[in-house]
Amino acid sequence: MQDTLAIIKPDAVARDLAGEILAAVQAAGLRIVGLKMLRLSKAQAQGFYAVHAERPFFDSLTDYMASGPVVCVALRGEDAVARYRALMGATNPEQAEPGTLRHKYGQSLEANAVHGSDGPDTAAVELAFFFNKLEIVE
Ligand code: PPS
Repeated sequence: MQDTLAIIKPDAVARDLAGEILAAVQAAGLRIVGLKMLRLSKAQAQGFYAVHAERPFFDSLTDYMASGPVVCVALRGEDAVARYRALMGATNPEQAEPGTLRHKYGQSLEANAVHGSDGPDTAAVELAFFFNKLEIVE
């Protein structure tokens, strides 16, 4: 079993798509073991995306991620990191395969509806950013 972090981003939460996206995740066989809605400050968004600090889109990305509430989800399943990334589709919704979350719900490279950890080590760090031990059920 493996855990990963999913975030339903501000554009999708603002369009009331969180329920639909959570249902699609569960239908894909990934179990929700932690769930919360919150609004990141700009500084918290910068902390979460620190690995991208040198990229030209960093300021815009962190403004966007602090622009409204997000839904943070701890997911568990066999090979959960790769399976959830496959369900999300490509970063750019225009390049995402039909049937993926970003193809269905993404609006642009920035407002691409969902985030997912890119590997098991990143998942552990990202889950700890949002959840303490008590907030992830066994
Ligand atoms: S990845 O998976 O790290 O290789 O993806 P990458 O393309 O490097 O993008 C990392 C995150 O930055 C977001 N992104 C952007 N935001 C705003 N503007 C532009 N041009 C842009 N390009 C990439 C992208 O949605 C990724 O966000 P997360 O939340 O990690 O999916």
